[in-house]
Amino acid sequence: MNHTLDLINKRRSTRTFSDRPISEETLLTLKEATLRAPTAGNMALYSIVEVTDQAKKDQLAIICDNQPMIGKAPIVWVFLADMQKWVNYFKESGAVARADEAGHAAWRAPGLGDLHLCMQDAIIAAQNAVIAGEALGLGSCYIGDVIENFEDLRSLLDLKQYTIPAAMLIFGYPAQTQSTKQSPRCPVDAIFMENSYKEPHIGDLERAFSVHEEARRRVGALPYDNTATLADYYYLRKHTSAFMAEMDRSTRVMFDWWQHG
Ligand SMILES: Cc1cc2nc3c(=O)[nH]c(=O)nc-3n(C[C@H](O)[C@H](O)[C@H](O)COP(=O)(O)O)c2cc1C
Repeated sequence: MNHTLDLINKRRSTRTFSDRPISEETLLTLKEATLRAPTAGNMALYSIVEVTDQAKKDQLAIICDNQPMIGKAPIVWVFLADMQKWVNYFKESGAVARADEAGHAAWRAPGLGDLHLCMQDAIIAAQNAVIAGEALGLGSCYIGDVIENFEDLRSLLDLKQYTIPAAMLIFGYPAQTQSTKQSPRCPVDAIFMENSYKEPHIGDLERAFSVHEEARRRVGALPYDNTATLADYYYLRKHTSAFMAEMDRSTRVMFDWWQHG
């Protein structure tokens, strides 16, 4: 099979890392490949905070829903949607004042559209990093909980108004003990729809997630004595969980900050 497709198809999240150090050369290669990701208007509407300070890593592990693997990961990157750099560039270069004086354009503060583009840029760069990491033998795992406890993250990383977290990744060489077993995926026709949105209902959804449900049932992970469906599992474990409520609260705070300061 094609080497790139092989890497993509064999990838799985890595949560335990070996002690093998990552050379400066490998790290630089990873960074350069990350930056080759497409970016809207080639504006690089994102920044990446590389967290190397062990005390900060440990703090991140706590505020990201207590995941100790973050403190143990050799590389920890927080991907920020970043419009602050352009706000500063526009203002500090005099571009805003010149446009205003010439009557070309009045100042427009970044809005939700800017935020959406910045998020796209940051997340696309993150996934480039995942695949580049695989090519270098480095495993990775996204940390979705980076959107919890926004106030703590903001002070930990000294964030500014137009910089908010879009994604977080940890990387390292996988520990020998890491299994190569992969998690299931939905069938292609459960995800791709032709020409318009086809609202899925119970029969489609049972079919879409049947492999996931079987996998949970095999390990006795479904609620109500393993009799429940995957819908019960996700409804109880994820959708109505305390961490999901916190993600919602925290995201409201960060979006409000972006819009209103
Ligand atoms: C947006 C996002 C957030 C995630 N957050 C976490 C996390 O906080 N902790 C974790 O262990 N895995 C996290 N993951 C990894 C997923 O659990 C994993 O991708 C999924 O179970 C599929 O497994 P695979 O990546 O091995 O194919 C996250 C993945 C994504 C895309």
